Amino acid sequence: MKTAKLTLAGQEFDLPVLEGTEGEIGIDITALRSEAGAITLDPGYGNTGSCTSTITFIDGEKGILRYRGYPIEEIAQSATFEEVCYLLLYGDLPATDELQEFNDRLTRHSMIHEAMKDFFQDFPATAHPMMVLSTMVASMSAYYQRALNEADLDLNMIRLLAKAKTIAAFSYKKSVGQPFVYPRNDLSYTQDFLHMMFAVPAEPYAVPPVLNRALNLLLILHADHEQNCSTSSVRMVGSSQASLFAAVSAGICALWGPLHGGANQRVIEMLEMIRDDGMDFRKYVNKAKDKDDPFKLMGFGHRVYKNFDPRARILKTAADEVLDQLGIEDPLLEIAKNLETVALDDEFFVERKLYPNVDFYSGILYRAMNVPTEMFTVMFALGRLPGWMSQFKEMRSDPRGRISRPRQIYMGEALRPYVPLEQRGTSKAKVEVEKPELTTA
Ligand code: CMC
Repeated sequence: MKTAKLTLAGQEFDLPVLEGTEGEIGIDITALRSEAGAITLDPGYGNTGSCTSTITFIDGEKGILRYRGYPIEEIAQSATFEEVCYLLLYGDLPATDELQEFNDRLTRHSMIHEAMKDFFQDFPATAHPMMVLSTMVASMSAYYQRALNEADLDLNMIRLLAKAKTIAAFSYKKSVGQPFVYPRNDLSYTQDFLHMMFAVPAEPYAVPPVLNRALNLLLILHADHEQNCSTSSVRMVGSSQASLFAAVSAGICALWGPLHGGANQRVIEMLEMIRDDGMDFRKYVNKAKDKDDPFKLMGFGHRVYKNFDPRARILKTAADEVLDQLGIEDPLLEIAKNLETVALDDEFFVERKLYPNVDFYSGILYRAMNVPTEMFTVMFALGRLPGWMSQFKEMRSDPRGRISRPRQIYMGEALRPYVPLEQRGTSKAKVEVEKPELTTA
């Protein structure tokens, strides 16, 4: 095995070097602290591998994404979301009978416990659907048993995948004040979700194939993305042996943030702002470059991709096709394309290798599908579920697995004696004593 050498305080340490399938190099520092008495410091974990994994490969410099070795472009073109779920969860594409059985299980577990329905009544109508999704997923721990062995975990993964679409659709129905539409076993995963979202009891609703294809594509493109913020949260929570539902609920909360999955909602809000402000996209590119302005181009930039995000490329083409098939002209699509052109030609973005990411064009598709803006990140979460669960499963079965517990370098006060309360005076007096320049200015 190759090794890397570290010299610290005149002493040399040999660190094992690991090489991944695609030639990535990792320096294994598992024994660093015990041998050298030092730790590594890497805020934001840009250089830290938290695990080895066999699920997803990304080459950010080349703009490559593969699920279990299959290029995202081929999968997106030909697979169904259910096949991708199977691939991520079990490692290989399913044979015909395996897919049939998997689909049967998914449809049979799609109803939620009737008592869970009552929860929806108690959320305010304005509750963000990501909050509702995360709460409802966490509450599944109360209804379905903890995974005590591998078979339980498998059953709970099927339950979660099957019920998440019902929960997501119910949270939408609650927000618009329409009755819940129950799942149907004769529909595919994506058809069933669209039916629960858009059907009403008063009349039949046939899921338009164009919407079904678009949703299938969107869910597939979101299905996994290795150790991103939400997936790392799922692994971290799961490492304490918390339940699958608790860990995924934490992942949903992490995804909600605007720098992560919440960006898809923010992209549309940004494009609407530019539209309402006279379509001056150059002004907003300049704002994004201005270090004194907190404005960022949402849907741009990525920690890993320093090239086109392959998902954004696929979605840009799909946005054109879907809007065309639906006969929709959306000015936001034009604004997005213009923003992309201007930004990709601008030195600031070129130097920093900032390209459109998956969230840049996805919202335009969701809008065309009539999915409300607040639901966009829920759609991302639905797609990401198989990824979170595969990563959870891999983490739980890793013989090297330990509770996640990073270290820190303490930079606070050195040792000082406790001052009894009666000697500390009032807060005003404390400020005057400790920072006299503040009160005399
Ligand atoms: N607009 C303007 N400047 C940007 C942007 C942007 N969207 N993204 C990065 N930069 C600049 C940043 O200011 C920094 O400049 P400098 O070197 O002069 O300080 C440089 O580019 C590097 O950025 P960073 O913030 O250090 O990069 P990061 O890897 O820590 O953050 C990111 C990655 C995705 C959080 C960031 O690019 C961002 O905030 N983008 C907008 C939000 C977004 O679209 N998020 C979705 C990410 S993809 C889907 C997902 O993961 O959910």
